[in-house]
Amino acid sequence: MIVTLDGPAGAGKSTAAKALARRLGWRYLDTGAMYRAVAWAALHRGVSLEDQPAVADLADTLEIRFDADRVLVDGHDVTQAIRTQDVTAATRRVADAAAVRDVMVKQQRRIAADCHIVTEGRDQGTVVFPSAELKIFLTASAAERARRRHRERTACGDQVSFATILASQQARDDADAARPVGAMRAADDAMLVATDGMNEQAVVEKLVSLVISCGGQACP
Ligand code: C5P
Repeated sequence: MIVTLDGPAGAGKSTAAKALARRLGWRYLDTGAMYRAVAWAALHRGVSLEDQPAVADLADTLEIRFDADRVLVDGHDVTQAIRTQDVTAATRRVADAAAVRDVMVKQQRRIAADCHIVTEGRDQGTVVFPSAELKIFLTASAAERARRRHRERTACGDQVSFATILASQQARDDADAARPVGAMRAADDAMLVATDGMNEQAVVEKLVSLVISCGGQACP
């Protein structure tokens, strides 16, 4: 069974998708990390982000692996490196390239073959797995999402302002929604889950109940 979890940055997708997969004993796929890994590799190897065919070739030859919570690119642990601001900015450009998306879509489908999986991203329910048994679009108001991110960042000692976070979140949402291929959008048959006012536990319980109502079961 395939459960897709799409939605904007900061809606709590990663936390919810990971927790859901753990509860079910299913595989978890972070497709944002895959785009980030390609961006990291392009920056690292000096491949121009303007040169979309070259970035797509690079994506095709990279070995992106997930090992528990770690992300490995050709054996290098890039878990932290793919979360920097430079890589986040480059990721948006990499994700705009249709040729890169083609490569990513194929890899994601290969990963999901023959297993129960919770897969998280922007285009999982619309493009990658249009026949998924359950599609969820997880969202929250822009202010709530920015508040959560601001709390996380200031807890790490980062002095960033709420206004800055809100503005960069808005820019990312706009770019993700405006992309000609693989734009962020809820599939017509997606269940919309708004997480304003819900804690992580409540979100996971809600998702588990949706999976069960679609006939999904935890692996023994
Ligand atoms: O989910 P995360 O914020 O890590 O994703 C990083 C970026 O990768 C997103 O802002 C989006 O531009 C891109 N992305 C995408 N399609 C996906 C997952 C992520 O275009 N399925």
